[in-house]
Amino acid sequence: MIRINSHYTKLQASYLFSDIAKRVAAFQNAHPDKEIIRLGIGDVTMPLPDACIQAMHQAVDEMADPETFRGYGPEQGYDFLREAIAREDFQARGADINAHEIFISDGAKCDTGNIQELFARDITVAIPDPVYPVYLDTNVMAGRTGAFKNGRYEGIVYLDCTAENGFVPALPETPVDLIYLCFPNNPTGTTITRNELQVWVDYARENKALILYDAAYVAFIRDDSLPQSIYEIPGARDVAIEFRSFSKTAGFTGTRCAYTVVPTTCRAFDDKGQEHDLHSLWNRRHCTKFNGVSYPIQRAAEAVYSEEGKKQCRALSDYYLHNAALVIEKMTALGFACVGGKNSPYIWVSGNRGSWELFDLLLNEAGVVCTPGAGFGRCGEGYIRISAFNSYENVAKAMQRIEKALG
Ligand code: MLT
Repeated sequence: MIRINSHYTKLQASYLFSDIAKRVAAFQNAHPDKEIIRLGIGDVTMPLPDACIQAMHQAVDEMADPETFRGYGPEQGYDFLREAIAREDFQARGADINAHEIFISDGAKCDTGNIQELFARDITVAIPDPVYPVYLDTNVMAGRTGAFKNGRYEGIVYLDCTAENGFVPALPETPVDLIYLCFPNNPTGTTITRNELQVWVDYARENKALILYDAAYVAFIRDDSLPQSIYEIPGARDVAIEFRSFSKTAGFTGTRCAYTVVPTTCRAFDDKGQEHDLHSLWNRRHCTKFNGVSYPIQRAAEAVYSEEGKKQCRALSDYYLHNAALVIEKMTALGFACVGGKNSPYIWVSGNRGSWELFDLLLNEAGVVCTPGAGFGRCGEGYIRISAFNSYENVAKAMQRIEKALG
């Protein structure tokens, strides 16, 4: 008899963003003439930078010519892209990362979800609350948790991120092995300072733990004092894996390209206490389960690092940050406390009522979709997340409608 992985039965009914999409579709069915403005899921709306489009066109032409056609590429990604990333995203900022430590993939969601396969089932995992649901759900699927009770899974060490701690979690009170951190944060939009991040790196070194650092929103950092990579922090090379994505940096949500950095100095231990290097393990997994990102897409990603590409990507994130500033201004004027939105496309709004209640209110009365904070964890209750990924005109219209509904 075929049997399922019973850990899947512990999962909440559906993935947060699918759940929201269903509610929005139901509303749209009931009110077909109402125009909905989507400030929910963090999906970009602006087209790809011209430099990327040009590079992609050229690469497509190469694929049409027998002389320049390419079949399978290296699973880890082409050197032209890995070298550009190492030089521009790390070495230019003084971070000691080499091209061969970079693995190109089709998304940070997949990589942050898949990475946990490398680790034993009985390790202790620390996960922030609120959190991007992928980190948690993939550990549930792998059997690292007990049942879901009172809004939390048994067996997970939750790191509370609240207004009291500025949404930067304190070190766990009990020892942990694997730590998920995401800055600029999804969903709260908050950032971490060098000193705060150093505390985590020191903790990981002292406890032989590992940090999984999701920096998918790094392109939105405008405060130069903030670290862009965990590898800017001394000692991080030995205890941290970093995830990056071209989705939010260059509008690749539909195009798919990302990368994961696994330094060759990162170690983990087997049951006998013997050291293993995680770079080799991830390489083994990657080559077994993945056949690489397509050549035209990797050429498009490489163009992000050209002089034109850099300017065009900066203009994209500036555009969304301009939207975010408007959201902060208008929501603050309506009496809501907001964080994020300054070095991030997300604004975390204290809703003065239940998250889903405010979600429904904004949908029904204003035709605006946000994301209920409670969907990201128990500490998200009472908040909503507003995404700045839309046109300025739509964001302005959404704010007017919210003012009218709530003002
Ligand atoms: C979000 O809305 O949190 C993001 O779109 C999630 C993602 O990038 O997968």
